[in-house]
Amino acid sequence: MGILSGKKALIVGVASKHSIAYGIAEAFAREGAELAFTYQNEKLQSRVEKFAEQWGSKITIPCDVASDEEIENVFTELGKHWDNIDIIIHAVGFAPGHELDGNYVDVTTRDGFRIAHDISSYSFVALAKGARKMMHEGSSLLTLSYLGAEKVLQNYNVMGLAKASLEANVRYMAASLGKEGIRVNGISAGPIKTLAASGIKSFRRMLAENAKRAPLRRNVTTEEVGNAAAFMCSNLASGITGEILYVDGGFNITGMGELED
Ligand SMILES: NC(=O)c1ccc[n+]([C@@H]2O[C@H](COP(=O)([O-])OP(=O)(O)OC[C@H]3O[C@@H](n4cnc5c(N)ncnc54)[C@H](O)[C@@H]3O)[C@@H](O)[C@H]2O)c1
Repeated sequence: MGILSGKKALIVGVASKHSIAYGIAEAFAREGAELAFTYQNEKLQSRVEKFAEQWGSKITIPCDVASDEEIENVFTELGKHWDNIDIIIHAVGFAPGHELDGNYVDVTTRDGFRIAHDISSYSFVALAKGARKMMHEGSSLLTLSYLGAEKVLQNYNVMGLAKASLEANVRYMAASLGKEGIRVNGISAGPIKTLAASGIKSFRRMLAENAKRAPLRRNVTTEEVGNAAAFMCSNLASGITGEILYVDGGFNITGMGELED
């Protein structure tokens, strides 16, 4: 029996086989969870349906998280299949491309700031609001963050601010829902080559630098993030809420790379 056996999980954020949400779905299916998925738009529909099928799920629902109506519809549709939800995975992030290329002060715009915060942070609490009636004691929500929330990383720019907001969101949501026995956490993942990541300028160099400096001397995989997510959303983590767990090969603890002799 897997650690998520009998749990129903909604996964928001699968776009490709390389998605962190894909690694999470894989681990969740292996650990016995029943899965449902959303897809951002029609372009992704058939791909997400195929993935869902491979994990034995027939539940795929459209959801652009910029739309309150679409978020509401997710839970109306889900309610036709499930009486309740045990887990929501929020693996969504976006900022317009021009915000992620160049000097922060020069490239940041009011509109880019608004969009990054709306899609990457507000959407997490929006999903919690939508799911409110279906959640219960023992339910758990999990989002994905990045070190750029706390430290300056070149070209990450306004996404760093959006991730800082998202991490504060984790804490406020955890405090808000804790008395109902609902847990809210985040995983701060190391850099992984995904569609979203390829929007960040010089991402390949970031990967190389990360692997060189991380104590484990390598980058992490979506499987490793998926395994940590399975733990965080399982009853094994029943005492953990409001937490950001690093799955980054230890990169965040370092102050400097190893000095060459
Ligand atoms: N890849 C990395 O290096 C890395 C590191 C740490 C954290 N993260 C975070 O992990 C999460 C997942 O990203 P990923 O790297 O797997 O990339 P990805 O491109 O595979 O996934 C991003 C997802 O966000 C969805 N999305 C974007 N805008 C949306 C909208 N308006 N409505 C609904 N969905 C929308 C996309 O459809 C896609 O499924 C993001 O929050 C990202 O910031 C990524």
